[in-house]
Amino acid sequence: MTDTAASSTAEAFRVVRNPHAATPEERAKKLEHLNFGVTFTDHMARVTWTADGGWGDRRIEPYGPIPMDPASSVLHYAQEVFEGLKAYRWADGSVRLFRPEANAARLQRSAWRMALPELPAEDFMASIQALVELEQDWVPDAPETSLYLRPFLIGTDVFLGLRPPKKVDYLLIASPSGPYFSGGVKPVSIWVERDYHRAGPGGTGAAKCGGNYAASLRPQVEAYERGYDQVLYLDAASGQLLEELGGMNVFAVRADGTVLTPIINGNILEGVTRSSVMQLIEDQNLKVVERDITLAELREGVESGEITEVFACGTAAIVTPVGRMGSADFEVTVGGGEPGPVTLAIRQRLTDIQYGRAEDTYGWMHRVV
Ligand SMILES: Cc1ncc(COP(=O)(O)O)c(C=O)c1O
Repeated sequence: MTDTAASSTAEAFRVVRNPHAATPEERAKKLEHLNFGVTFTDHMARVTWTADGGWGDRRIEPYGPIPMDPASSVLHYAQEVFEGLKAYRWADGSVRLFRPEANAARLQRSAWRMALPELPAEDFMASIQALVELEQDWVPDAPETSLYLRPFLIGTDVFLGLRPPKKVDYLLIASPSGPYFSGGVKPVSIWVERDYHRAGPGGTGAAKCGGNYAASLRPQVEAYERGYDQVLYLDAASGQLLEELGGMNVFAVRADGTVLTPIINGNILEGVTRSSVMQLIEDQNLKVVERDITLAELREGVESGEITEVFACGTAAIVTPVGRMGSADFEVTVGGGEPGPVTLAIRQRLTDIQYGRAEDTYGWMHRVV
């Protein structure tokens, strides 16, 4: 198996142990029935940045509340960016990350957009190494489970004026998790949103900042009320072009074997899964085309059978088939409402690499433990 051994810059993190850490029995109980994002490990990593001193005080400390002054800038101006990646337990007992350097780079791009300091990639990697090494017994081994890692940056200076913060905290928390969508590979339904937009030209759509997700909740609530699982956003400029879902990129498979996905246009998040899926599709001798896709093309293609499959992808939900799409003026079933062969093959191939069931010919997996 190809793997990149972790460097051990992790020593740079001093460890303050949690005196109330879970006992092995308590941990085993918590790992029994995992949902997504509700259980947390005993520790978290933290690095503090100040305008005068830069990044310093790298530490692992007990997981717990982070007391904050009510005038902290993140509470008022949403100076927050985050990442999401998973640590996978392999059958040989080792623990691996999937392309973590891509998350380190994206966190830097997101931080830049919000005028937050960019965490050096070495600190990002070292924080994960240090935390996952310490918390390795929290990495579950049941099918489709993982240790979900949530690195984030918040503005913590105490000042109500609007300016880039002079104090910022980077935190990394870890959550043993089960599948994002319960019930296995079940097609989801998506509401194509006409009234609300997720991002506009020159906005923050390409950044993984909390504000984007806050703004997506009203459309998500309304989609639920209409009986749909997820929202598909269109571009704000023309209202015609597909962009992405609230937390996933989107692909459409054509009967002629080409696979389409919206081009990176500054509004959508450049998914790590998206670029990996594109590579896997090409390696199955299918052609991937990144370009503008109109809603009309998608809808008519699904209706005529020219588009046979639609799927969404992201770290949390992996590769998820779309079975139904609707909006104010249409409703279509995709591929008879069943997951299609390309979707299932890509999902299988990706998860086989992530869980070490297939050789990692791309050098995507990074060994931590
Ligand atoms: C808006 C949005 N698009 C796409 C993705 C997929 O990105 P990735 O594959 O890096 O998880 C995510 C998830 O992080 C997201 O929040």
